Amino acid sequence: DIIPVILSGGVGSRLWPLSREFFAKQCLPLVDKELSLLQQTLLRTASLDVADPIVVCNEDHRFLIAQQLLSIGVTKSRIVLEPKGRNTAPAIALAALEALRSESDDALMLVLPADHVIRDVAAFEKAISQAAELAKQDALVTFGVQPTRPETGYGYIRAGEDFAVAEFVEKPNLTTAQAYLASGDYLWNSGMFLFKASAFLSELKAHRDDIYSAVSNAYENRSEDLDFVRIDAELFSACPEESIDYAVMEPTKKAKVVPYVGDWSDIGAWDALYDYADKDADNNVLLGDVMAEGSTNCLIRSESRLVAAVGVQDLVVVETADAVLVMDKNNAQDVKKIVKRIQAEG
Ligand code: GDD
Ligand code: MG
Repeated sequence: DIIPVILSGGVGSRLWPLSREFFAKQCLPLVDKELSLLQQTLLRTASLDVADPIVVCNEDHRFLIAQQLLSIGVTKSRIVLEPKGRNTAPAIALAALEALRSESDDALMLVLPADHVIRDVAAFEKAISQAAELAKQDALVTFGVQPTRPETGYGYIRAGEDFAVAEFVEKPNLTTAQAYLASGDYLWNSGMFLFKASAFLSELKAHRDDIYSAVSNAYENRSEDLDFVRIDAELFSACPEESIDYAVMEPTKKAKVVPYVGDWSDIGAWDALYDYADKDADNNVLLGDVMAEGSTNCLIRSESRLVAAVGVQDLVVVETADAVLVMDKNNAQDVKKIVKRIQAEG
């Protein structure tokens, strides 16, 4: 059996001002008008032969997420609550411990970020069945996507013989990313993984025993109520913060990569949403009450009033009731800096 493990921890700060602390981007109907990215992610696994899902999320989002699961008919799930996110390595370790509690040692976890868009379900299923064969032999399988731009927010994989990962480089700098793209030898790490819970935990222990011990300790002191598994705040906050990519995928010798040949998008920032969305004749993405004249390559989104753009290029403008973002589309990663300042300055 494959257990879908949905990572729903991030807030999506690069999609500010739409995403907020209490309304994370994966709960927003960003692309589809009705379903959130989280709901789409779960529905995508429905046609596979899967066990009940495990969702790992922040405690603050528990009711929103539980309600979103129920409304698409997922009545049996386990929702693991982090008091404060410690990034993906601890989150996946919690899910692995939770999976091992109820399933056999051989149970496979399909780790899926809650914020990806994939329309090509057939290609998705094909990649997963290929990956399952490798994962049954204790490999940590990632899904590789053909890169299309020198994105610095992703991990890069050089594939070797027989699905081996020859090299895994998380978030290279721009010069390196450009070289990887030009070489044609690298795939993007899609951020989806398939492995046995036991295989992941033993690699985590081998490479980051500090994370492994801290998570195990916190998990042992969990409390349960309904579908919620609540992790002890003090013990979990003692866990080092690190992503699976740095903590395990870069150093491990057990990584394998299966190509995923279908559409895929990590709607992590406004430029990614622009790339993904349908454009008008001027290459603009205009959402809501928006007018544009002599403007090209813009994403403009209005929530509460008319927004007009004249003679501008490559802009992102996002209007909400209490905040407006105006940004050069090429600087989409830097929205994070504003969010950090808002948090710091109050
Ligand atoms: N539960 C939980 N707790 N989930 C988390 C946490 C956490 O502390 N931190 C992040 N997540 C979730 C996010 O919500 C997202 O769905 C997923 O884990 C990945 O985290 P990101 O923060 O979005 O990672 P990234 O985009 O910088 O990089 C990862 O994804 C890329 C592709 O989208 C890496 O795996 C890259 O190698 C990869 O290319
Ligand atoms: Mg991401």
